Amino acid sequence: MTDATPTSGRTVRLGELVDRLSLAEKVHLLTGATAFTLPGHETIGLAPLAFSDGPTGVRGLTFVGGDAVALFPSATLIAGSFDDGIAEEVGRMLSEEAQRQHIHVVLGPTINLHRTPLGGRLFEAYSEDPYLTGRTASACVRGMQGSGTAACLKHLVANESETLRNFMDSRLSETALRELYLLPFEMAVQDAGAWSMMAAYNDVNGVPATEQDHVQNGIVKGEWGWDGLIMSDWFATKRTAASANGGLDLVMPGPGGPWGKRLVTAVRAGEVAEATIDDHVLRLLRLAERVGGLTPEGRQPRPWAQGLPAVDSPVRKEQLRRIAARGMTVVANNGVLPLVTEGTDDAVALIGRHAIDTVDMGGGSAVVNPPYRSTIAEGLAALLGDRVRTADGPAVRARPVAADPAFLTDPATGTPGMQVVLRGADGTELARYHSDTPAISIDGDHLGQDPTVAVLTTALVHDGGPVRLGALGAGRWHLAAAGQELTAELRLEGQDPGEAMLRPPAFAEVVELPAAATVTATVALDPAVRPENLLRDPALGLAEESHLLEMTTLGRTALVAGPAPRPDDELLAAAEAAAAAAGTAVVVVGLTEDQETEAADKTTLALPGRQDELVTRVAAAAERTVVVVNAATPVLMPWLDRVDAVLVAGLPGQEGGHAVAAALTGALEPTGRLVTSWPAADGAAPAWDVVPDGDLALRYDDGTFIGHRGYHAGHAPAPLFWFGHGLGYGSWEYGTVQARAGESGLEATVEVTNTSARNSRETVQVYLDPAEDDQPVRLVGYQGVDVPAGATAAVTVRCDERLRRRWDEAAGAWAPLAAGGELLIARGLGDVRARVPLP
Ligand code: BGC
Repeated sequence: MTDATPTSGRTVRLGELVDRLSLAEKVHLLTGATAFTLPGHETIGLAPLAFSDGPTGVRGLTFVGGDAVALFPSATLIAGSFDDGIAEEVGRMLSEEAQRQHIHVVLGPTINLHRTPLGGRLFEAYSEDPYLTGRTASACVRGMQGSGTAACLKHLVANESETLRNFMDSRLSETALRELYLLPFEMAVQDAGAWSMMAAYNDVNGVPATEQDHVQNGIVKGEWGWDGLIMSDWFATKRTAASANGGLDLVMPGPGGPWGKRLVTAVRAGEVAEATIDDHVLRLLRLAERVGGLTPEGRQPRPWAQGLPAVDSPVRKEQLRRIAARGMTVVANNGVLPLVTEGTDDAVALIGRHAIDTVDMGGGSAVVNPPYRSTIAEGLAALLGDRVRTADGPAVRARPVAADPAFLTDPATGTPGMQVVLRGADGTELARYHSDTPAISIDGDHLGQDPTVAVLTTALVHDGGPVRLGALGAGRWHLAAAGQELTAELRLEGQDPGEAMLRPPAFAEVVELPAAATVTATVALDPAVRPENLLRDPALGLAEESHLLEMTTLGRTALVAGPAPRPDDELLAAAEAAAAAAGTAVVVVGLTEDQETEAADKTTLALPGRQDELVTRVAAAAERTVVVVNAATPVLMPWLDRVDAVLVAGLPGQEGGHAVAAALTGALEPTGRLVTSWPAADGAAPAWDVVPDGDLALRYDDGTFIGHRGYHAGHAPAPLFWFGHGLGYGSWEYGTVQARAGESGLEATVEVTNTSARNSRETVQVYLDPAEDDQPVRLVGYQGVDVPAGATAAVTVRCDERLRRRWDEAAGAWAPLAAGGELLIARGLGDVRARVPLP
């Protein structure tokens, strides 16, 4: 073992440190100590490393809640800027957020691809395109690791959907694996030297991702010569020896899990070589060394950065607002945007539930607890003052949500929240406490036994009238308030514990209650529905040691309570009236965490509720209509030809409301380009289904023809908007293109002229349409440029050679593409500006 770490005055080889440990000590280091920390080992100077999610902010050492941390724009907005500088800045900011909390490893970026637009978790991942994904990831990793925080590329690999994610088997060709799904990992390893990766939940071609000798040992550590660490996704490890031999270095979370004593036994039985364990430990020590967590023999521990910007500081606000706005995409505009801000007192009707309840992040493990949130209503009012008239729109959520804590008062403390009592099977009181949120975790780990009954008591902050009351979480519920009773039996649906945890069953009803009514909600928990019992279904084929069987939580249990919503008919009529009374209507529509979440996929791209009707009625009533789409992923737009402009605003983070307002008025130009093609209809995409078949297989039959590659080849009707499309507020003329062989490969230079009256930014995209019929068109390079009004700039785009090869399955090797083909200089493949034949 040759790695060396400098200490004060001399060098200690990492291998020597490994050799100082017994087998049991080594194995102990290879499973987490808690949900997000590792065990340290003082005698070799190994600090207990701390990990945190993730892609939209550094939440800290908890799954739920935690301290207030900066909430970033969704990954789709970061990639949408097509700008390495932005992605690198995000990486630096994530590192600062991590350092403030003494976190060594941030669990991100997520670099799975948008294979089908139904994927629930796409908001966390960059794009349908592997090159844009790999380049954005590389820049983000450079930013993070350049300031000493390890990135963790996830999820290795072929994890593009959520349905039955712990059990499904992604079946794909070696060609698709190499050319598409591994490419972002390869790029972030080669171009940014990422220090860690996370193995996915799913199987890949019949072998669990955590046991992928072919991918982990063969390709990533072998062919790429990568010296980093691979950790499991949380509870993903399915078998002991197979994962240790298959290249997994670290099991998360801990304690517990399938390694520990079982792995020691496997080594003693000769099923796993001790040298394999040594290699895992060596990689762990190397990671620790890189993040300043290894201080053998007197070496000084890494000092954590001081004086970092606070989560709500002006610096952070400026960054988060600018980054969000830059990634937003103008997909249609007949000149109505940007909104006129000077010399007019024309009223602007701002309409829709998302305008007053802006969705700033998706659901799942990426969720953070932001210091504040900003709605589009607040943001636009801050810029346009009382020109803005706001009107609510129809409901957008089908599932009830947990109560706003401000609506609840704990009768015992008089403070916001509720009183919680947990009882055991014999009625014994196990715990009694105040909760300042409406959600509790029912977990017996620290109580000595599993509670079977929870009683939640709260007084509603309410003047009397209709209230929506209910609950989230599996169990038999009984709610009593002012002499009225509600009951419901909620059962876990599906067998995926992640889904059970993140999307618990729910119910809610509207009841009339007097002012300040006290609600007593009692839930009896039926042990038969605990996930570990569901998981023992033989069809799922889980081994006895599977880590999933330790995931015993029943998930979120919460009280639902809030003012009863106004009926949709009333809201639609009021919205229409508001539109008719204003010169311009801005309608905000979108998705919620019901659709954009980890652990569940979508079934349709249609906007939920009656939002399409809202846009249609507003467009008929208003003189001018602008639609803002508050969603990270494609939605259908049956009303597109009736509106004047559409801005795709993504899930814009804590500064989201201000960022949308700045984009609408042009205070910040929305320079984004779409990171995914937007289908014209449900099903009209080269890859669509996300539900595995009876054998739990999900076939990636689309091969390397996903997204724009597949549309271009005619595998689906043309999309509504192509990947790469985005108008910004400039207008552009392209000159002739020069292509030549540069030092690092093919380069294309083109002059672009900003023919508009404002300074703007153009993103020159270069696609390669290969000569071979079986090869899809693909993005091979892009370069952004800021150009003053009326000026011309020469832009050189370097084409990445990794996109100019094909995987030869017969030879088991890369081969260059055939000579010929064409370079397309395009603003998305729907707007090709020049074609250059290649020799
Ligand atoms: C997710 C990971 C995440 C982990 C820890 C899992 O559910 O798939 O991406 O990092 O939880 O929260």
